[in-house]
Amino acid sequence: MDFIPVNRPIVGEEEKKAVLDVVSSGMLVNASYEGGRHVRAFEGKVRKLVGAKHVVAVNSGTAALHTALMALGMKRGDEVIVPSFTFVATANVVLACGAKPVFVDIKEDYNMDPSAFKKAITKRTKAVIPVHIYGYPADMDEIRETAAAKSVKVIEDAAESLGATYKGTQTGKLSDAGCFSLYATKVVTSGEGGAISTDDDELADMLRLVRNHGQVHGYDSRHLGFNYRLPEMSAALASVQMDRLDGFLRARARNAKYLTERVAATDGARFTQDAADRTHVFYLYTLYLRKNREKILKALNGAGVGAAVYWHIPVHKTPLYVKLGYGRKKLRRSESAAGHVLSLPVYPGLSESDLERVAGEFLKAARANL
Ligand SMILES: Cc1ncc(COP(=O)(O)O)c(C=O)c1O
Repeated sequence: MDFIPVNRPIVGEEEKKAVLDVVSSGMLVNASYEGGRHVRAFEGKVRKLVGAKHVVAVNSGTAALHTALMALGMKRGDEVIVPSFTFVATANVVLACGAKPVFVDIKEDYNMDPSAFKKAITKRTKAVIPVHIYGYPADMDEIRETAAAKSVKVIEDAAESLGATYKGTQTGKLSDAGCFSLYATKVVTSGEGGAISTDDDELADMLRLVRNHGQVHGYDSRHLGFNYRLPEMSAALASVQMDRLDGFLRARARNAKYLTERVAATDGARFTQDAADRTHVFYLYTLYLRKNREKILKALNGAGVGAAVYWHIPVHKTPLYVKLGYGRKKLRRSESAAGHVLSLPVYPGLSESDLERVAGEFLKAARANL
């Protein structure tokens, strides 16, 4: 029987044609402040979805976060509050600015705990980066309210949440800057890629400068920047994917509903991302397992179901951050999540029989181990 991976991109004939058209045109990149034709078309589609005034495409989600921090002026001595239960990029970009990541704990839904954020603020705090973990929006009202009172900038790490909404508003529109990833497994992909949304004209200008070595007309660098441009081929691919987003999200939601009905009520397993005031894009469908996570993971993988763990180690416990002196910090919920979460396949390309197999194998493994 075929192995069912935990995630698989859907890239079809239209995407292939869009990429080949760019290759045939010979215009692979447009190294300008505005970006090329396909970059601008892609940006327009994200702008429309998110409802933001500006969208700036870049070549990864990491680049999106780094560009946003740089454009907001983060520098040595500044503190940026981040969750530890996230992909390491969320914190690495803070280090890349010479600033200091300050790790805080999460809630049961794996998103930043707004009260932990509030407690971690100091005179040096310049920004906070809530992450919409697995595609499920964080408590943005509380985070924004605290941030506004303390003049702290808010950057959403929306790498996993393109299309998700919080109280009716799209993620990426809930802060000073929203950062998306177009990595291969994300809800919309171009292999590698990213985008930043903002309503702020000046910030958008700065984002475009940072993306292009600080240049407007070429060889006129006026700000520190890098080559964070999205290639035209990638933009053309991502543009077609944007047209398919509604269908992708419907399929993810349908698959998640099936999994919830079949497996989430299992004794010893919990699904915790289900508040009624926000929508989940189900980049990942993740359960909290009371015990024996590794055994269940092994059983599923052995049965051809590519369940996986995001993430085994909270960022502050990774070797780099331990070396930097963060290792002794106690973040109870982050550490507990890292030891107990398990993500099941939920991607749009799953067939009904795939889903039955995922649920069936999970229930079998759970009965033996939970
Ligand atoms: C939460 C989170 N932040 C940041 C990133 C970085 O995005 P990218 O891999 O496109 O650089 C990712 C994805 O990999 C992510 O899941």
